[in-house]
Amino acid sequence: MPHADSAFVPSDIQTKTEFWNYVYGQLQGLFEGQRFWISNLANASALIFNALLVYPAYFGSGNRAVNWCGFYIDASLFPTPRLLGAQSQADHVDHSSNKLLLGPFCGKPACQFINTAPGKARGVCADAYLRRETIVVPDVEQYPGHIACDGETKSEIVCPLLLEWGEEQIAVGVLDLDCLAREGFTEEDKVGLTKIAELVVIASDW
Ligand code: SME
Repeated sequence: MPHADSAFVPSDIQTKTEFWNYVYGQLQGLFEGQRFWISNLANASALIFNALLVYPAYFGSGNRAVNWCGFYIDASLFPTPRLLGAQSQADHVDHSSNKLLLGPFCGKPACQFINTAPGKARGVCADAYLRRETIVVPDVEQYPGHIACDGETKSEIVCPLLLEWGEEQIAVGVLDLDCLAREGFTEEDKVGLTKIAELVVIASDW
């Protein structure tokens, strides 16, 4: 099957729960034989975003559509330039943690950096990352500290990416979806996307 067809959604899908279970299965297929996180997250954002576009019945289209789907990842996990002569660029890249950097996404350009430092953290992504829990925001205007990358966005859901590391649990980043309508995301989205966030983490090397 051509890779692009994984975003096709069969017409017998009737509920959001069925939709997310279907997307989960398609992602498992896409991740097969690939553990590099940038590649997996790039395909995950493309698959989720495009599957949502062809499934407007529950998620909305036009001014109710999901307008952004992507990842913010801990700055320390980004690759360092390795090619000869890249040192000058590397000097400008800050790999210290306490920040999330924009990762693979679909949608309009978004803010590149989110502060997670104690006392300075702000926004839904930073909160989900630091609290290690999925946050559903029915109305972004009512969320203290919300970072408006796109003034059109009305609601949002952010799931942390949590890596089990021996006895420890490490947050490596977040999965973020934005919607043009208020109350765009429900409990079903929370359950489905939290499972997808788990899959993304276990399918990739960090
Ligand atoms: N709204 C997010 C910022 C990221 S954008 O939505 C793509 C936040 O408050 O953290």
